[in-house]
Amino acid sequence: MTILKIARMGHPVLREVANPVEAFGTDELAQLLDDMVETMDDAGGTGLAATQVHVPLRVVVYFVSEGRGGMEEGIPLTALINPVITPLDESIGYGWEGCLSVPGLTGLVPRYEHVKLEAQDFEGNPISFEAHGFHARVLQHECDHLDGILYPQRMDDLSLLMYSEEMRHGLPEAAREKLGLPPEE
Ligand code: NI
Repeated sequence: MTILKIARMGHPVLREVANPVEAFGTDELAQLLDDMVETMDDAGGTGLAATQVHVPLRVVVYFVSEGRGGMEEGIPLTALINPVITPLDESIGYGWEGCLSVPGLTGLVPRYEHVKLEAQDFEGNPISFEAHGFHARVLQHECDHLDGILYPQRMDDLSLLMYSEEMRHGLPEAAREKLGLPPEE
C-alpha cells in the first residue's frame, strides 16, 4: 500500500469531472481502493475522493467513527464506485465541514438532510441505501469532489469559512442562527 499525495484547493485536478469506472474487480481498482484508505487514515480524514489523489475516476471511500457528527453508531469503512445522489426531499441542514484538500479550514455548509445513494461495489454489484444527517452530508461532500466541486463553493455565507483553530474564540452569530442555537449571552 502507498500513501498518495493529496491535491489542495487550486490544483486543477480538483476542478475536473471524474470519469466513470468501467472495469470492476481488477487489481488496479483494488490497489486504488487500498491506497485511498491508507491515505485517508494517515491524514485523519472522514472521506476521500479519487480526484483528491490525482486519479480522475468516480471512486470515494469514507468512514465515520462512533459519536462523530452526532451519529451514535458510526458508518463502517465504505467504498462507493460511480455514486449517484438523489435528494429524498427538500429539507436542508447546516453543518461544519472540513476537507483534506482545504487543510486547516472549516466552513458551515448547507446540505440535503435526506438522500438516496446508488453506486456500485468493487465487483460492480449495485449498492443502494438511504442516508440522513451527517452521513448524507459526508456523501454529498465526497460526491461533489467527483464533479470538481469543493465545499466552500456550496456555502451561502463565506464569513463562516474559518480556520478551525480560531473556532475556540466562539461561533459567529450567523453560524449560531443557521445551526438553530440560542444567541450567545
Ligand atoms: Ni473533501
